[in-house]
Amino acid sequence: MAKKSGKVFDDSVLVPTHVGVIMDGNGRWAKKRGLPRKFGHREGAKTFRAIARHAKALGISYITFYAFSTENWKRPKDEVDAIMDLFEKYLDEVRDFMDENIRVRFIGDRTMLKPVLQQKMKKVEEDSKDFDSMTLVLAINYGGRDEIAHAVKSIVTDAENGKLSCDDVTESLIQSRLYTEEIPDVDLIIRPSGEQRLSNFLIWQAAYAEYYFTNILWPDFSKKDLEKAVLTFSERNRRFGGI
Ligand code: FPP
Repeated sequence: MAKKSGKVFDDSVLVPTHVGVIMDGNGRWAKKRGLPRKFGHREGAKTFRAIARHAKALGISYITFYAFSTENWKRPKDEVDAIMDLFEKYLDEVRDFMDENIRVRFIGDRTMLKPVLQQKMKKVEEDSKDFDSMTLVLAINYGGRDEIAHAVKSIVTDAENGKLSCDDVTESLIQSRLYTEEIPDVDLIIRPSGEQRLSNFLIWQAAYAEYYFTNILWPDFSKKDLEKAVLTFSERNRRFGGI
C-alpha cells in the first residue's frame, strides 16, 4: 500500500510502502566505456547505496534490491566473484546504514553462499532487527520460483508430520513461508536499462505491483530518477481487482 510522503514531496504524493529495484544495465554501462563488466557492478553498488539512502529520505518503508539471482551463477566465474566481493564489502560497511536506523534483511537461498558471507548476513540481520526507519532487503541468490518451491516444501514437511492439513493451505499460509514472510507485497517495481520484464523477481509478491521502466542504465540512475518513479506511481489508479 502507500502512505503520504515525508519532507521531499508535498502531502498530495502517495509514496509506495514497498519498492523493488532490478539493478540492471551494469554490464552495458561498463561496455560503453570499454571497461570490464565488473567495473559496471562496482558503479552499480555505489548507486545502490545512494538510492537506498534516498528511499529512506522519501519515506519509503521497504526497499528490495535484486543483487544476484538464482540464474546469475551461469555468468563467468570472475564476474560472479566480483559481485560476491561487492556484497561482502557492503556487509562489512553496513554499520553506516545501522547508524541510520535501517533494518537490513536478506532474501534468497543463502545455503549456496560462502559460510563467511552467511555468518555476516546473520549478524547484520540480528544487529539491525529493531531498527525501524526503513527495511532494506537484499535479494541474493534469489529466485521467485525457488522461493515458492521452498515454501511448498516447508508446508509439505509440516503436512507429513501431521501439523497441517489440506484445508490449512491458504494464501496467507503460503505468504508466511516465503523468504519475505513479514514484508508486505511490493507496490512498485523499478527496472532501468530498457528491459521490461520481471526476471523471476518477487513473482508472488508482485501480484498487484505497478511497474516503472526507464532506459537509464543502473549506474546512472539518480535520486531524481527515484523521485520520478515515485511521482509516476502516485498518479497511478490502483484497483486491486475492484472498480
Ligand atoms: C544486472 O546487470 C546486475 C547484476 C546481475 C548484479 C547487480 C549487483 C550489483 C549492483 C552490485 C553488488 C550488490 C551489492 C549489494 C553491493 P547486468 O550485469 O545484467 O547488466 P547488462 O544487462 O547491461 O549486462
